[in-house]
Amino acid sequence: MDAKEKTARVFFTSNLMAWNKKINNRLMPWKGIKDPYKIWLSEIILQQTRVEQGLDYYNKFVHKYPTINDLASANENEVFKNWEGLGYYSRCKNLIATAKFISNEKLGVFPNTYEEILTLKGVGPYTAAAISSFAFNLPHAVVDGNVMRVLTRFFGIETPIDTTEGKSLLNTLAQNLLDKKNADKYNQAIMDFGAIVCKPKQPACNTCNLSKNCHSFNVSNPEAFPKKAKAKAKSNRWFIYFVPFYKNKVLVGKRQQKDIWENLFEFPKIDLNEMPSLDILNNSENAVLLKKMDMTISEIPRFNVQLLTHLKIHACFIEVDLKKEIQLECFEYVDMKTLKNLPFPKIIAAFIQTKNFQKQA
Ligand code: ADE
Repeated sequence: MDAKEKTARVFFTSNLMAWNKKINNRLMPWKGIKDPYKIWLSEIILQQTRVEQGLDYYNKFVHKYPTINDLASANENEVFKNWEGLGYYSRCKNLIATAKFISNEKLGVFPNTYEEILTLKGVGPYTAAAISSFAFNLPHAVVDGNVMRVLTRFFGIETPIDTTEGKSLLNTLAQNLLDKKNADKYNQAIMDFGAIVCKPKQPACNTCNLSKNCHSFNVSNPEAFPKKAKAKAKSNRWFIYFVPFYKNKVLVGKRQQKDIWENLFEFPKIDLNEMPSLDILNNSENAVLLKKMDMTISEIPRFNVQLLTHLKIHACFIEVDLKKEIQLECFEYVDMKTLKNLPFPKIIAAFIQTKNFQKQA
């Protein structure tokens, strides 16, 4: 590292900390607290979720499960119900598994080293650095989307961040810049700075106290950073759900597959990678389910859409009054009151709500 580079690094850290002390007034309920359970909870919620969306969920979880033992002993379907709408349900599965592990195997005491925290289910290097620094002030720099954006812009890093080389370079740089005595404050400061000042679109360069030495501001365009090697294409899936009623009960099952929405409930369905025609629906493999329900499809209902990060889900719902009781593996009949309390993907929960099946209870 040459002298100029060293000066830039010292400038970066000291000006970031000065901004944090004098200007940063961002308030969030998990900020500055030291309870590792609540910090872990907030970090799992925020892994794929914007702060504004995560806030209500965080408050709800802390209220319903004030300690890790409360979460560990809670009914699993109830925990998933409380997670409903937040997406990426494997986070909730790991949350429950980790709560049980710490409650049962560690006497409810959260681990206090980076290495041990990293071994927890659902915790990667970013989350381990966040928990170990926020709760125990251990010197591990966080590297998330915010941090990558701030660093690539300030230091003019052209290496794509979705490559091994880019990731390694940013991890090393981030660790180097960390204010090691104040790792808790520094890590929160750089994330807040990325959210408030160095935003993805229209960053506030005019009022930024780092801009005078910011490479992208001085010689390029901040919005052109970070660079990425590949754009991820969205793929599509079509779900044709059947809502089979028999004697005021409806057939639902828990999703078991390693797939989106694992552990949430759903209705029996046909799952396709292309827009279905009536011919496709009434034939071949799909006919097995239809035959069981003793029906054919004469019209495809309108599809509703739910966007996930890299997936577009098209779902439609066909209500079926079964003439006789049928059995499907992993599905069971539930009454309307039970239906209301089960966790469903957003698109199914919305359907259930519009139909107001509960009234039939
Ligand atoms: N995203 C993940 N963790 C965060 C935190 N502690 N503050 C703000 N945004 C975050």
